[in-house]
Amino acid sequence: MTTPVGETTCRVCRGPLGEFLDLGRQPLSDRFLTEREIPGEFFYRLAVGACASCGMVQLMEEVPRELMFREDYPYHSSGSSVMREHFARTAHGFLESAYAGPDPFVVEIGSNDGVMLGAVRDAGVRHLGFEPSGKVAEVARRRGVRVRTDFFEEPTAAEVRAAEGPADVIYAANTICHIPYLESIFRGVDALLAPGGRFVFEDPYWGDIVEKTSFDQIYDEHFYFFTASSVRAAAERFGFELVDVERLSVHGGELRYTIARRGAATPAAAVAETVERERARGLTAPDTLRRFAADVERVRDDLTALLRRLREEGRRVVAYGATAKSATVTNFCGLDAGLVEWVCDTTPQKQGLLTPGAHLPVVPPERFSPASSDGGYPDYALLFAWNHAEEIMAKEQEFRDAGGRWILYVPDVRVV
Ligand code: SAM
Ligand code: TMP
Ligand code: ZN
Repeated sequence: MTTPVGETTCRVCRGPLGEFLDLGRQPLSDRFLTEREIPGEFFYRLAVGACASCGMVQLMEEVPRELMFREDYPYHSSGSSVMREHFARTAHGFLESAYAGPDPFVVEIGSNDGVMLGAVRDAGVRHLGFEPSGKVAEVARRRGVRVRTDFFEEPTAAEVRAAEGPADVIYAANTICHIPYLESIFRGVDALLAPGGRFVFEDPYWGDIVEKTSFDQIYDEHFYFFTASSVRAAAERFGFELVDVERLSVHGGELRYTIARRGAATPAAAVAETVERERARGLTAPDTLRRFAADVERVRDDLTALLRRLREEGRRVVAYGATAKSATVTNFCGLDAGLVEWVCDTTPQKQGLLTPGAHLPVVPPERFSPASSDGGYPDYALLFAWNHAEEIMAKEQEFRDAGGRWILYVPDVRVV
């Protein structure tokens, strides 16, 4: 039940926030650590609420951005071949679009290792990435991408406008939902965007999270859970207009929002259609939120029951993909090294460390092989990187052929 308010107010409109889900004490989802760092580990309360005024779903507590997006932020966008293709397609779409002028300037917020801007650079087009996390920004620079190691917000955006002129496209993938200070983002876009330019961003869609009970999309970095309705309201509040929405299948289901200055473009029919579908589904209605919270508890109970049974039967269970999302699963469900031996992950920066909060060892993918020093393949692999299931299952067909089984928990717990 959405509780009456007062405690916390909406980060966008200051309206009353009703909390509907408490996922407990949680660590920083991307802070992998050594044994020695465990005593100083940072924790906060992970809970979600919905605004009764503008419908924006958001975290109740905000984690300081410098704790999350640091020099050694470990997430590398180029780690998935599907995502590399997705971003190359996106870049070419911008370069061919009607709103990119003859000498376009493309700005990206959260450019990470340059996975999208690399393609813009290869086309010889002016560009700039904003990326506060030092090491991934450096990876992009080594690819020839121009990066400013900084947070995008009103003052930094205004500086770029003064020095380099207006941007035709400002793009962000899986980043705007990470930024509580949305007003400063829109003011920055206002300072930097050309009159006929577009602000385009894509993030996990609340509609998919509810439908799939993918509660692991909820963690420190994911501050907002957008809908077309809440983004439209936010855009209008800050002098813009939502002119298009597009469904994307990546990362478990996303929406891409295209925003223009008010009156600069005619909204596509998809905007009104999506908003109406959300209203009809009651995506942020108290009943829906209550049902979602109950579904989350059911998934937790089913998953822990399955893992306990497998342990009693003496089966070997490991996990695949040390995702930020999995911090929520391991800590909310109490998955420790007694239930899950280790997690394999291709990211060198994560290997050799422990996962946040649950402290499962992260090992390189070589351990997940018939020649593994553990004595071959495990019996079961819990797929934390379920959003990359197709890519991973194809790559690991040999595990399945050898009798191994995947454990999935989205949209419900099952063994395949
Ligand atoms: N766009 C990439 C993708 O979709 O794979 C990276 C997404 S990653 C989950 C989020 C990125 O946003 C991180 O690299 C983080 O450092 C960056 N970030 C966080 N706050 C930011 C801000 N205010 N301005 C620019 N980048 C930011
Ligand atoms: P993401 O779900 O946030 O994109 O994170 C995916 C994580 O899974 C990241 O740490 C890289 C890892 N990974 C693998 O270990 N193997 C793979 O084949 C893929 C696609 C990802
Ligand atoms: Zn609000």
